[in-house]
Amino acid sequence: MQRYYIPRKMSELKRIKIIDLLKSEEFGKLVNVKGWVRTKRGSKNVSFIALNDGSTIKNIQIVIDHNSIKEEEIQNVHSGAALSITGEIIESQGSGQKVEISPKSIEILGIADPAEYPLQPKKHSLEFLREKSHLRFRTNTFGAITRVRHAMIFAIHKFFNDKGFLNIHTPIITGSDAEGAGEMFRVSVLDPKNPPLNEDGSVNFNKDFFGKETNLTVSGQLEAELAALGLSEVYTFGPTFRAENSNTSRHLSEFWMIEPEMAFYDNNDNMDLAEEMLKFVIKYAIDNCADDLNFLSKRLLDEEKIKKQEDRSPMELKEKLLFVLENEFVRITYEDAISILRNSKPNKKKKFQFLIEGWGIDLQSEHERYLVEKHFKKPVIITDYPKEIKAFYMKMNDDDKTVRAMDVLFPQIGEIIGGSQREENYDLLLKRMREMNVPEKDLWWYLETRKFGTVPHSGYGLGFERMMLFITGMGNIRDVIPFPRSPQNAEF
Ligand code: 4AD
Ligand code: MG
Repeated sequence: MQRYYIPRKMSELKRIKIIDLLKSEEFGKLVNVKGWVRTKRGSKNVSFIALNDGSTIKNIQIVIDHNSIKEEEIQNVHSGAALSITGEIIESQGSGQKVEISPKSIEILGIADPAEYPLQPKKHSLEFLREKSHLRFRTNTFGAITRVRHAMIFAIHKFFNDKGFLNIHTPIITGSDAEGAGEMFRVSVLDPKNPPLNEDGSVNFNKDFFGKETNLTVSGQLEAELAALGLSEVYTFGPTFRAENSNTSRHLSEFWMIEPEMAFYDNNDNMDLAEEMLKFVIKYAIDNCADDLNFLSKRLLDEEKIKKQEDRSPMELKEKLLFVLENEFVRITYEDAISILRNSKPNKKKKFQFLIEGWGIDLQSEHERYLVEKHFKKPVIITDYPKEIKAFYMKMNDDDKTVRAMDVLFPQIGEIIGGSQREENYDLLLKRMREMNVPEKDLWWYLETRKFGTVPHSGYGLGFERMMLFITGMGNIRDVIPFPRSPQNAEF
């Protein structure tokens, strides 16, 4: 079967995007519109094509009168086909939209054989669509998510730009492990079957591309700190990579992180900034993504209906967004969080998978969600975690037991932001690095900033896809990034 048609005559008219066309009231004007067929239905006398070009969730309806365009001319047009249509803007007779197109000519740019095209005009499962990531941009759900994702990227840059922060590109290939968790993807050009060896039998990375062991970065923070300690307020927005084997709905192996870093900020200033930023971007979504959020909200309602009563979310998507906007985040210490959790019903009734027995353990997402969704019913920021469960760079408190960390917890998500005030004291930082076996020789440059003009400073990391989960109401992080990377999955 022939797959491509050379258009008979490309329209001389400039293409109008569907988002602009739907706002137009110039009835009678001749326009050209291009896009992909969502649905086609019809009778002997008239056919209707719903066309979408991704500029909006809404389709333009093409009303084809078979007195002027024969049915045979569009017999190869099915869901998924790409069309270029030149026609007149007419006032819609039906409800739901203001304008329609009465076509003068229809050019088929690309057909989609219905026997092969995977996206039929019906509801597909998200799991199925994940396997069709090359085509899922053509669905309502992924169109909406992708437009919201773009708006959120823009909002984040706007927020920091308006505050005078400088955007810094930090390296993607690095020789250091910023989080000290050892969950890195190695970057090497050595032959894995026959690497050069040292005398003791270990791999000789001096012979590798960079003359040292390198990996994909887990965070841009350490380099952002260098920039902040000269430029005051900076932020990164880059890809980060984690080789942890977490096959959950909230973890990706490749995700995007926003990491502001500010000189002269203490941890309270840090929390104020994080709260202000989250509220700003949520408000931006409400103000600028109404159509897409309405669609996602309805979608979520439909999903909730299939769930058991007790698993249903008590709030609609928009309500949830407003709820975060309108409430001040609760700020509590780790110690207080532990005591709330220890005395909580699910802990006493042994409903938590990980029971809280005492001070010192790391919080799991079930605990974080309990605090946010059940106990406080507000976003929560937990501060002053035990030093043992946090990274080496966090500033030590006077108790010598806890560090000036802050994690922001959100409904449905759990941890959305992790951050801290940084240890700016050279001796204390070096002591922590030695205690935690962080190699000093790899981080000599980081240590030097504490030798020359050191100042108190703070920063945090927002997981962009975790935020996208919250704003779109989607349940799985693999559905809010175009091409998810997770264990055993690097297709596309
Ligand atoms: O808490 P994390 O590991 O903190 C850092 O990397 C610090 N260097 C940030 C800083 O202070 N500049 O990660 C920060 C955030 C988490 O709160 C979470 O939202 C997100 O990144 N995150 C992930 N998102 C998706 N998939 C994963 N595997 C993630 N791991 C962390
Ligand atoms: Mg964290």
